[in-house]
Amino acid sequence: MKKFSSYNEIKKFLREVIFIRAKIIKLAATVVVVILLTTISFTGCTKPVEKPVEKATIVFAVGGASSEVDYWHGVIDKFQTANPNITVDLLLQPMETETRMQTLVTPLSGKESTPDVFLMDVAWVGQFAASNWLAPLDDFISKDNYDLSVFFKKTLDFADSYKGKLRALPVYIDSGLLYYRKDLLNKYGYNTPPETWDDLVKMAQKVQEGERKSNSNFWGYVWQGKQYEGLVCDFLEFIVSNGGNILDQDGNPVINSQNNVQAVTFMRDLINKYKISPPNTYTEMTEEPVRTTFQSGNALFERNWPYAWGLHNADDSPVKGEVGIAPLPHFAGGESAATLGGWHIGMNIYSKNQDAAWEFIKFVESFDTEKGFAMNLGWNPGRQDVYDDPDVIAKAPYLKDLRAVFIGAVPRPGVPYYTKLSEAIQRYVNSAIAGKMDPKDALDKAQEEIKTIIAQYTG
Ligand code: GLC
Repeated sequence: MKKFSSYNEIKKFLREVIFIRAKIIKLAATVVVVILLTTISFTGCTKPVEKPVEKATIVFAVGGASSEVDYWHGVIDKFQTANPNITVDLLLQPMETETRMQTLVTPLSGKESTPDVFLMDVAWVGQFAASNWLAPLDDFISKDNYDLSVFFKKTLDFADSYKGKLRALPVYIDSGLLYYRKDLLNKYGYNTPPETWDDLVKMAQKVQEGERKSNSNFWGYVWQGKQYEGLVCDFLEFIVSNGGNILDQDGNPVINSQNNVQAVTFMRDLINKYKISPPNTYTEMTEEPVRTTFQSGNALFERNWPYAWGLHNADDSPVKGEVGIAPLPHFAGGESAATLGGWHIGMNIYSKNQDAAWEFIKFVESFDTEKGFAMNLGWNPGRQDVYDDPDVIAKAPYLKDLRAVFIGAVPRPGVPYYTKLSEAIQRYVNSAIAGKMDPKDALDKAQEEIKTIIAQYTG
């Protein structure tokens, strides 16, 4: 303990203590002020906290195969966890594209505010945009500085833009593919899938004959021939692979060309003459019946979209591990062709919850969600960066191998009267493959009808 020898010493000591205390207090005060100032200035510098989207419920309309709808439920759950303010109600649509379209045309033409957000077939995005049912996404994109360079520019320009505004974004891109049974081709002495339609017929006849001995339900080739949009997709692949088309470059119909008559005759012959495709091709065969026929082990070749890959290789699939994918065959002298399909997401122009709908669109288009579609559903993602992901390459190697097929896929005519055009093609081509009309006669009639449709629209 300190000892003092005089009163003055005590006074000096006390003065020093007081001085040091004052210094400490001053220092502490300075520290507090600095902290406060730093906090204030930092708060002033950071971006203002974004206004969260207000509490909202949006209706999302989607359909497809049941595995796809199940998957959408999972996407919605994840979105709601990340966005607790927004509830998404799934409005279930059917499988086929026309009926899916109808369930949207009714509310949109009645200017109803729901569904707020929906998927659209690439075949009718243009028509929806021209009807002014799709909210332009441009303002949302610039507000969020949203990066559009991850998408295929061609798709945004040709499929998703209308009158200079972006109306939709691609969720997945479809293109027609040939699925084949690797084990059966090997069993019958073939090393590679067919290059031409003639090769396909020969292989299918031989394998069908052999397999029928133990399985009377076995077919060489299954494809989409029912009177619906899927038939137009298959028809386009047959005619383009024979050098034909529906319209020429100036938009004039060329549907009754000699090459097209030859291609439709071949479609009919697959059923009637070569007998490698079942008679229910023209009454029942849409994507799902075609897929299940092949998947249950009852076909050698199948024409379908990429979604079938994931299902064929599911654990409970009888053909798991035995399936190969190749470009569709072509006619001698022609080139293989795949129809461009796919589904795009858009927003109802009358929606009262557009901010919430935009948040949902961004979530669906995020890298993780798009990667999930490729990994779990076998879809070709609408974003190009997902194709280079190592997990995706390992799970769906064909995405890389068949990139040329996807990039070169042939679009259906992008005309505002597409629905009418398609309806006429479906009717006449279906009559021809069902043997109710001669192929030439059917295509001549289709040509006349398409001319009339075009005249009505162009005045
Ligand atoms: C697929 C395609 C779509 C096409 C439809 C025909 O869903 O993605 O573009 O119109 O099949 O059935």
